[in-house]
Amino acid sequence: MVQAQSLTYSVDSTEPIEILQITDPHLFAQQSGQLLGVTTAESLHAVLDTVLANQHQAKLALITGDISQDFSPESYQYFAKAAKKLQLPCHHLPGNHDEAAVMNANIVGEYMCSQKRILIGNWQILLLDTTVAGIPGGYLPDSEVAFIEASIASAPDLHTLLVMHHNPIKVGCQWLDQHWMKNGDAFIHTVRRFPQIKGLVWGHVHQEIDKLVKTGMKAIRVIATPSTCIQFKPHCDDFTLDHLQPGYRLLQLASDGSISTQVYRVPGERFMPELNASGY
Ligand SMILES: [Fe+2]
Repeated sequence: MVQAQSLTYSVDSTEPIEILQITDPHLFAQQSGQLLGVTTAESLHAVLDTVLANQHQAKLALITGDISQDFSPESYQYFAKAAKKLQLPCHHLPGNHDEAAVMNANIVGEYMCSQKRILIGNWQILLLDTTVAGIPGGYLPDSEVAFIEASIASAPDLHTLLVMHHNPIKVGCQWLDQHWMKNGDAFIHTVRRFPQIKGLVWGHVHQEIDKLVKTGMKAIRVIATPSTCIQFKPHCDDFTLDHLQPGYRLLQLASDGSISTQVYRVPGERFMPELNASGY
């Protein structure tokens, strides 16, 4: 199973590997669709144009869920078409706003990659499915834990990055944390068993996080990334939008297992959501 899902990239393993994370586009069947005042197709294009303007040397992009807002085939087809401008392989996983069957059937074409295990230089990147049908919260099933264990067992010398949609730790926003990865504590316990795991990366929370979480003797790097549309304000118990612009993340994976990373946002103040909204 592990081998069937793998894709290997050949790179100069002495150079840091640049990877993009693009998350939570929340696209609609209609390109004019708006989420709380932001036209999500437009903000996605603004983010993709910002990526291009920044002239990174990225080898691939990780698309970490909530690609659709309305579960429509057209929303996934639109993402696949829009992302072509990056001219980069885009490995994707579903979020709670996605319908996996519709997504997999429609997010296809040039540059769209369904493989969930990426082997690149001294690293392997594992894309995990934390979605649970019909609810906004997440859960990491035993099959995904087995996937992690088997992947590390088959390449124990590689540094490992785990990528998912839901936050496996609480982020300090009560309204969001009720929809975290419900078995996050058990997952962190699993992560502690593997020194190969250097970082956890997710979407879902529409805000920037980059910190170390101390657990036992190990500190785990945890990273979350702004959405390409609306932003959620950190440390708010009730639903609160942020005025920050849509963005993406660049990850640089070094051959010694260290991670450098930075968030980039669309310049200016082009996108302004309905800041007084109380939910979506
Ligand atoms: Fe989202």
